[in-house]
Amino acid sequence: MNFALSEEYKILQKMVRDFAEKEIAPIVDRVESEENIPDELLAKMAELGLNTITIPEEYGGPGMDTISFALAIMEVARVSASVAVAMSVTNMVAEGIYRFGNEEQRRKYLPKLARGEYLAGAFALTEPGAGSDAGSIRTTAVKEGNEYVINGNKVFITNGLKAGIFMVAAVTDKEKGKKGISVILVERGTPGLTIGKKEKKMGQRGSDTVELVFDNCKVPITNLLGNEGDGFKIMLADLDGGRIGIGALACGVMRACVDEMVKYSKERVQFGQPIANFQAIQWMIADSVTELEAAELLVLRAAWLKDRFLKGEGGRFTKEASIAKLFATEAANRVAYRAVQVHGGYGYIEEFPVERFYRDIRVTTIYEGTSEIQRLVIARSILEG
Ligand code: CAA
Repeated sequence: MNFALSEEYKILQKMVRDFAEKEIAPIVDRVESEENIPDELLAKMAELGLNTITIPEEYGGPGMDTISFALAIMEVARVSASVAVAMSVTNMVAEGIYRFGNEEQRRKYLPKLARGEYLAGAFALTEPGAGSDAGSIRTTAVKEGNEYVINGNKVFITNGLKAGIFMVAAVTDKEKGKKGISVILVERGTPGLTIGKKEKKMGQRGSDTVELVFDNCKVPITNLLGNEGDGFKIMLADLDGGRIGIGALACGVMRACVDEMVKYSKERVQFGQPIANFQAIQWMIADSVTELEAAELLVLRAAWLKDRFLKGEGGRFTKEASIAKLFATEAANRVAYRAVQVHGGYGYIEEFPVERFYRDIRVTTIYEGTSEIQRLVIARSILEG
């Protein structure tokens, strides 16, 4: 066992950290206030390979592994959770196409995501009546000749405004329940797909979250991803990787919280001395660093297991991805709470970044599966062996 990062990982980490500090940090307030990640930023990320990290070079990606993906997300999230979630979801879509698509679909779509011709990808599973119970979706895709005709509504779709390609879960056979769900790739601009309401959110405002409306949206049957009826499993299997991304995002935000806590507590003087001298503050910092380091290890372990799984060297990593997401996102909420607490009144105003971290982190125990769903996945895995 070796806990040290290799030189390659350290180089990647530094490259992404420099990028985040140079290209994202100066505009982070604008990203949040305008509720928009500039297209140029997404294009630059594509150029650096950040939107398709694990996609092999032959399809335009940098061909790195999941540990690299997790490290990169941590660095971006340290500066902007909004940009990090956009990046994580785009990678999840790219990987869904790579893992479950046929050669033609890989060649058609992956280079576009890798080059930035598609600025993002979107993962369209959730519906007004199907959140945690994702198997109860109602959007339908009916085969007519050489086309699927899609009808229905999706909600809370990250990247909906920016995505060039949507991975859409739809019912192709009502009789078969979850085994009647399929995934269909829908290109941006396809007639019948309209982008509906954009949500006003508590945090991660830079990342767009929208409703999608499918009204007799016709796509060629060749856009079916994998086999008909395999869609639910494809979405869940892809989400396993996405949950590692969200765990990594939580680690990045936690790291930023700790940095701010340390900085502020050394500067802020009360009772004649820096508040860092007080045990109450020290314990908050100590607990936060402990949770951060535990979360990083869990996320990197899940990433490592996923890489082994993809190489055919190990079994599914579903449980470990859920453990990593559960622990990291719950811990990050505690850490962000402490970060605000250490700042006192200043933690509650916009001038100090911890105010944003506190809002940004809240959704991480909700999207890509709530903490309750992660516990369900973990418990089932243990109880069913
Ligand atoms: N990989 C592969 N297959 C899987 C799987 C996985 N991770 N998990 C389950 N399956 C398979 C099961 O083995 C089962 O197969 P069989 O029928 O052959 O036995 C099939 O899928 C159905 O599984 P379940 O019976 O366990 O399904 P369920 O209805 O009980 O639901 C669930 C399982 C874990 C609760 C699932 O519905 C779930 O994860 N819900 C949460 C949904 C979610 O995470 N949504 C996030 C939306 S995307 C998002 O947020 C992105 C964003 O924009 C930020």
